[in-house]
Amino acid sequence: MMVPPFVGGSKKLFIGGKWVEPVSGKAFDAINPADGQVLARIAQGEAADIDKAAATARTAFEGPWSRWTPVERQRLLLRVLALVEAHADELALIETLDMGAPLARSKGLANFAAQTILFYSTQTAAASVTTHQNSLPGHMMTLSHKAPLGVVGGIIPWNGPLMSVWWVVGPTLATGCTAVIKPAEDACLSTLRVAELLQEAGVPDGVINVVTGYGADAGAALAAHPGVDRVAFTGSVETARRIIGASAGNIKRLQLELGGKSPDIVFADADLNLAVPGAAMGVYGNSGQVCLAGTRLFVQRGIHEEFVTRLQQFTATLKVGSGLEPGVNLGPLISSRQLDRVLGYVDIGTREGATLASGGKRLGGTLANGYFVEPTVFAGVHNQMKIAQEEIFGPVISVIPFDDTDDALRLANDTPFGLGGGVWTRDLSTAHKVSQGIKSGTVWINCYGALDPNVGFGGYKMSGYGWKGSAEHVDSFLYRKAVYMNVA
Ligand code: NAI
Ligand code: MG
Repeated sequence: MMVPPFVGGSKKLFIGGKWVEPVSGKAFDAINPADGQVLARIAQGEAADIDKAAATARTAFEGPWSRWTPVERQRLLLRVLALVEAHADELALIETLDMGAPLARSKGLANFAAQTILFYSTQTAAASVTTHQNSLPGHMMTLSHKAPLGVVGGIIPWNGPLMSVWWVVGPTLATGCTAVIKPAEDACLSTLRVAELLQEAGVPDGVINVVTGYGADAGAALAAHPGVDRVAFTGSVETARRIIGASAGNIKRLQLELGGKSPDIVFADADLNLAVPGAAMGVYGNSGQVCLAGTRLFVQRGIHEEFVTRLQQFTATLKVGSGLEPGVNLGPLISSRQLDRVLGYVDIGTREGATLASGGKRLGGTLANGYFVEPTVFAGVHNQMKIAQEEIFGPVISVIPFDDTDDALRLANDTPFGLGGGVWTRDLSTAHKVSQGIKSGTVWINCYGALDPNVGFGGYKMSGYGWKGSAEHVDSFLYRKAVYMNVA
C-alpha cells in the first residue's frame, strides 16, 4: 500500500493562507490506530495561535471576500468539488491511516463529502433580501436582509473528519462567512490536506484557517474567543457544556451535535433478513464510533432468542483488521484511550448481569499493536443498566426485549439523548406510530443510518441543537435584519 506523500514529516498551522509554526513551537504525534505507529508530527496550536487565526478570519471576512457574488462563491465551491473528487482516493487513504476506518468506508465518506459540497454549491444565494407586507400607516416598505454571520469556529471530532469538516466549510463558503477550524487531536491529517486543496481551488487567504491542537487549550480558546461569532461543535456532552459556558462571554451562537444512545426497534413481524444485518451494522459501522449508532437494540420478546442467535451468527462473519486490508468490516478504535473506555464498558455490562453473547475482547496476534476490539453483543439487557444509558462509542450492541408498541416507545424514550432511532416492521401503522413516537432528530424505517445533505440531521434533548445539512443549516450561518423604509 502506497502511503500518500502528504503523510509524514511535520505539519504546521494554516493561517491566512500560509503554513506557520505554532507560537509554542510544540508538536504532538499523529498515530495510526491500526499499528500504533507515528504517521506525522502535528503542530500544537494554543490560545495565541487561535488569536492570530481569529484576527485573520475577521480581516478576511471584512475584505474583498465580502463582495464576492453568489455566482462567484458557487464557482469556487464547484472548483473545490472538482479537486475533492480528483483526490478522493488520496483523501480516503489519509483518513484510514489516521483514524482506522475500513478504506471502503473512507471512500464512501469522500463521496458523501463531494455530494455535500455539491449541495452547498446550490445554496450560495441564501444571503438575500426579501420584502414583507406590513400594516403600518403611511408608505412604509419592510424588508428582511439575511447577511453572513461573521467568523465561525468549527470544532471537529475524530470519527470521520473527512466528512465533518464539510459541515463547516460548506456553509461557510456558501454564505460568505469565514472560519477557524480546530480538528480533533486524534485525527487531523485529512483536514490539513483539505486545507491545501481549498487553497488550490482559490479560496482566498484567511477565509478558512486550520489550527490543530488539544481541546483543552486550542479548542477552549476558540470556544471562548470574543472575535468568533458562532461555534459549530460535534463531540461529547461534557465538552459541549464547557463550550456553552465559554459562549457566554460574547453571547456566541452555537450549533451542538452530541452523542446518542439511539433506539433501534425490531418487531416480530420484521423481515429478519434485512433487520439482522441492518441493525448490526447500524452499531458496528466505524467500529461503533458514530453518534447516530443504534446501540439500544429493542427486540420484541417473541423473537428475542432467535434474533440473538442470528445476530451472533452475523457477527461471527465479520472481519476485524487494518482498514487497508481488503474485505475488512471493522477497523481499530481511534486510540488506546477509546479502547480502554470500550473494554471498561464490556466489564461493566458483565458485572451488571447482562449476557455477553458475542465478542467483548481486545484482539491480539498480528493486531496486538493496534486498538482492535471484537464486535460485541450483550443480550438480556435492562434499559436502566449503564451499558444501555451511556454512550460507549464502540462496537457494542445491547439487546433489550420488549412486549408491545407502547412498551417499546416508553423504553426507547427513557434516555437523556435524542439523536437517532429505527424501526423494523412490515406493518405500516406500527412503522408510523413508532416513527411518530420516538423523540429524536432522525428516525429510519426498515433501514438504518442513511443520510442526505439536502435533508440533514440534528439532535433533540441532550443530543444537542442546530441542524446540519438542508437550507436550515445554511440559514444558521446568516443573521437577519429587518429594514423599515419610509418611502413617502
Ligand atoms: P470531545 O468532545 O472531548 O472531543 C471533540 C472535539 O472537541 C475535539 O476536537 C476536541 O479537541 C475538542 N475539545 C475537547 N475539549 C474541549 C474544550 N474544553 N473546549 C473546546 N473544544 C474541546 O470527545 P472525546 O474526548 O474525543 O471523546 C469522548 C466521547 O465523546 C466519545 O467516547 C463519544 O462518546 C463522544 N464523541 C461523540 C462524537 C459525535 O460524533 N457526536 C464525536 C467524538 C466523541
Ligand atoms: Mg490518528
